[in-house]
Amino acid sequence: MDFRQTAMVIDVPRQDLTVIDLFAGCGGMTQGFVDAGFTPVMAIEMNPHAAATYAANFDPDLTHTLCADISEVATADIPAADVVIGGPPCQGFSALGRQKKDDPRNKLWMEYVRVVRAAQPEFFVLENVDRFMASGEFELLSHEVDKGLLKDYEIRTAVLNAADYGAPQRRKRTIVIGSRRGQPTMPNPTHGRKATLDRAPWTTLATALDGIPFRARSSGPLPSNDMNIFDQKIAGPFTMEELHFGRNATQLSRDRYEVIPPGGGRFDLGRERPDLLPPCWRNKPTGTSDVMGRLEWDKPSVTIRTEFFKPEKGRYLHPQWEQARRSEQVNRVITHREAATIQTFPDHFLWCGTKTEIARQIGNAVPPVLARALAEHIANELVGTIPKSLSA
Ligand SMILES: C[S@@+](CC[C@H](N)C(=O)[O-])C[C@H]1O[C@@H](n2cnc3c(N)ncnc32)[C@H](O)[C@@H]1O
Repeated sequence: MDFRQTAMVIDVPRQDLTVIDLFAGCGGMTQGFVDAGFTPVMAIEMNPHAAATYAANFDPDLTHTLCADISEVATADIPAADVVIGGPPCQGFSALGRQKKDDPRNKLWMEYVRVVRAAQPEFFVLENVDRFMASGEFELLSHEVDKGLLKDYEIRTAVLNAADYGAPQRRKRTIVIGSRRGQPTMPNPTHGRKATLDRAPWTTLATALDGIPFRARSSGPLPSNDMNIFDQKIAGPFTMEELHFGRNATQLSRDRYEVIPPGGGRFDLGRERPDLLPPCWRNKPTGTSDVMGRLEWDKPSVTIRTEFFKPEKGRYLHPQWEQARRSEQVNRVITHREAATIQTFPDHFLWCGTKTEIARQIGNAVPPVLARALAEHIANELVGTIPKSLSA
């Protein structure tokens, strides 16, 4: 499916709008901004596998990708940009941590602030886990905005669900928009649990995974192409088709998957085939029902995390299941390709790194459709209004 077709098209020139992506990962957020017409001018990512994926898609000539710890990037090398995106990883430390100026956990946040001050963007966009608002990091950011180094900005914070912006996935994340043009607003949701006058219904897995064969490629190694980049050899780039590989599940695992219906999970296993329960589950009959759960065709998926390829980590079994006709039952977890599609990466996206590294990139990413909604919203503000500095 081409998710980009569902996004709003606005007829304003924006080819000159620039963006810097910090903690860029594979570039899920950049993909959304590029789709909205922005030009990336710098990306900082210290993991070489993720940085290689970013470069393969957005910077094949390596003109603006820095594979480095953000603290090693000199302030003088940071270009001006209209928007800075990306958020430092949240360690969720308690608010008390902020009191200590030299607390090492504050370091990444002060690096973030340093880059924003150097790039002087009109807007910044931060994405983080949904519990971010209760963290010391958030308190630190609010402090800098109230009376610290970011006092030129006003912020708006909200927990957005990617499904409300067209992703076939319920994924709640804290989004902070900072603006130098007055109190920013959030983009209006385009989708909802049910269709309404101004919202389409949530995108289902049936729509999103349409056209991807049930049969995955064999579970062997990825093709043996690799590239020399950032002074090392990195596997890839691999196409989305190449990521449609299965895993070597044991017969016992396949027997377990077979009795789990769409929407069901480990508790169905306990009811139907208690003999197949691993001892740890037998002794712990309570817990989350998502474990070894099966997805459902007519709903969006649960949040795709970095270990989506392990059924014991969540609801990641393929939705195809028909009790009457076992031949039409797909007894495997979703493939990397399916996970990337659920995250709304386009079919032409390229991936670099090992299977585990690529899974981490997929699970860590901001779904490009959500990023595009944010980018379109900000582009409208940038192009459609006069900067405060000029209107004063
Ligand atoms: C949640 S992921 C970013 C996902 C990205 N926004 C996307 O949409 O694909 C956070 C990234 O920050 C990177 N990172 C963590 N500490 C860093 C540092 N000190 N300097 C640069 N990158 C860092 C990690 O390697 C990881 O890829």
